[in-house]
Amino acid sequence: MTKIKNIKIFDTTLRDGEQSPGASMNIEEKLRIAHQLEKLNVDVIEAGFPIASIGDFEAVKKVAQTIKGCEIAGLCRASDQDIDRGWEALKYAGERGRIHTFIATSDIHMKYKLKMNEDQIVETAIAAVKRAAGYTPNVEFSAEDAVRTRLPFLARVVEAVINAGASTVNIPDTVGYSIPSEFGGIIRYLKENVPNIDKAIISVHCHNDLGLAVANSLAAVQAGAEQVECTINGIGERAGNCSLEEVVMALKTRQDVMPFQTNLVTEHIYAASRLLSTVTGISVQPNKAIVGANAFAHEAGIHQHGVLMEKTTYEIMTPESIGLNANKLVLGKHSGRHAFKERLESLGYDLSKEDMNKAFVRFKALADRKKEIFDEDLDAIVADEIIRIPEKIKLLQMNVSSGSFAAPTATVELEVNGKVKKAAVMGDGPVDATFKAIKKLSRMSPKLINFSVGSITGGTDAQGECTVRLEADGHEVLGQGAHSDIIVASAKAYINALNKALNASQRNQSFV
Ligand code: KIV
Ligand code: ZN
Repeated sequence: MTKIKNIKIFDTTLRDGEQSPGASMNIEEKLRIAHQLEKLNVDVIEAGFPIASIGDFEAVKKVAQTIKGCEIAGLCRASDQDIDRGWEALKYAGERGRIHTFIATSDIHMKYKLKMNEDQIVETAIAAVKRAAGYTPNVEFSAEDAVRTRLPFLARVVEAVINAGASTVNIPDTVGYSIPSEFGGIIRYLKENVPNIDKAIISVHCHNDLGLAVANSLAAVQAGAEQVECTINGIGERAGNCSLEEVVMALKTRQDVMPFQTNLVTEHIYAASRLLSTVTGISVQPNKAIVGANAFAHEAGIHQHGVLMEKTTYEIMTPESIGLNANKLVLGKHSGRHAFKERLESLGYDLSKEDMNKAFVRFKALADRKKEIFDEDLDAIVADEIIRIPEKIKLLQMNVSSGSFAAPTATVELEVNGKVKKAAVMGDGPVDATFKAIKKLSRMSPKLINFSVGSITGGTDAQGECTVRLEADGHEVLGQGAHSDIIVASAKAYINALNKALNASQRNQSFV
């Protein structure tokens, strides 16, 4: 019988994922995601880049202090200062703390970015790993842009860092350039040409620029890699990273041809995906594999008929295996606190008593206006009421008049830094008037990049959900707002984005 080999899942949603445009998260948000990753039972959580900013440092420290069931990694460049600062945040995780240090090894990066030759790269990598190993035996080294590195040099670097004490060596496809046969070949080459390769775990980290991150990661696993780095919903720099849910479900579903397993409790995947979308405001495309709204929807009659007769005709995995409950429990006006709490918990929200009470009050108010409350409504309530960043700007009240005769006018009352301010402003439409009023009162002049409106569920009583992408205070931020009045939802989204920009400015005072 073929032996099933275990593959470690290294989640980098909170580090590489956070590098997605508009996906920056505050400490509380990161901690929520980390708790969900712990439930999923990922092996390693990369919680951030401690030296990048005070906010990042604090987030890594908090995750290291709080999460007990996973290893916690922090990214550090190959320098003493980065590594020392990294360990300062990671030490709270004790032996579960992992220093992840990296330097680029491709000709193009060495020549143009680092201005270093091969010997200098090897020396710097060795020194960094030794520095990290002075703090912990749990050291990961990444050869940035490994895919575009000359293979004999890559093998030299890998051998050197293992000798210096790296317990994991990561082979990134930093620019998402590889194809599966080539990437599998790189791993095979290292396995065959690095004499001490058995002393370290070989990891892979694939970006998705050509849409091949999952395929490349699977090819690497088949060639001998033992750790896959990935993110929830595949978020990350540019086109994103290898998607956790896709790689994990591919391994689980096709064990017949890939004799590997992970430690993941896959039933928590769907909740993790939703939570991340709620926190970042980055929604999942409907046809996204595993977690997209259509992933388990059978539209064509012939398919529906087949599934009703025998599920496996068109279903290669069950919705339940990712925690998608086919029988969505619908809540309504008469639902009590207990049912509400249970539903939130099954969606992955572990709220404090105080937050649960706040959410329940909001739920009751919504249930008075809306007959049926769906999971999506609950997500919106939690996003709007609980997962809130500290607000320097608060919406107190607003009124908008518009129609086909009069010029649209918005009267908005805000609290800005503790002071109540009111303005009435005309605009080209009700949303324009509202945004202009908010700009006037907040004295900020953001550039609107994108504005979208959607309905959270079906029906004319559905809550409207607005997403606003702004460039404000030097940051590109994404704001969200939900309300049964779409103009109020727009105002909330706009204010949410402004608050995120103000918060990011405060957080990102760099340490160095
Ligand atoms: O894509 C990359 O090369 C990285 C490394 C720092 C691991 O994110
Ligand atoms: Zn990356």
